[in-house]
Amino acid sequence: MPRITVNVDGTEYTDDVEPRTLLVQHLRERLGKVGTVVGCDTSNCGACTVHLDGHSVKSCSVLAVQADGHDITTIEGLARDGELHPMQQAFHDNHALQCGFCTPGMIMQSLDLLAETPDPDDQQVREGLEGNLCRCTGYQNIVRAVRDAAQRMRPGAGPAIEHTEDAPRQRAGEQQAEVTQP
Ligand code: FES
Ligand code: FES
Repeated sequence: MPRITVNVDGTEYTDDVEPRTLLVQHLRERLGKVGTVVGCDTSNCGACTVHLDGHSVKSCSVLAVQADGHDITTIEGLARDGELHPMQQAFHDNHALQCGFCTPGMIMQSLDLLAETPDPDDQQVREGLEGNLCRCTGYQNIVRAVRDAAQRMRPGAGPAIEHTEDAPRQRAGEQQAEVTQP
């Protein structure tokens, strides 16, 4: 079996994988990243969207071996120090979800959209999210949330949070130094 090393949400993992294993299977079943969900398994719904080296991909359409040596960010890697990412907060504040099943993929795709188009209009948001399906909301509040997030994330409004090459790295199993209270 091929051995791969992936950096997921700032932690490096090395595992032997079957050549046919999908990235989403590897994330969920081996690494426990169950925040990334499977809606269709056929590249249609976008629920499984993650970032591969900073760009959104449908992780059911990528083989785990193709991610070898790459950085992956999942929905679980966005919040920092107990604070939601501005995009997550905007979805919350604008009631942009009902069942929430599409939400991880929507948020990851929305971040990719804002990286390309920092201040999109409604139509640009709808086009940017056309590969992500939601069966609950009618999309209106999702569009509102993404535009709200664009304002929260504009230059000077606070950092966009994502693991990057410069972010601190950790190997799976390593413990961060414990902070003891005086
Ligand atoms: S589960 Fe990947 S696109 Fe639907
Ligand atoms: S909130 Fe239910 S599928 Fe989008």
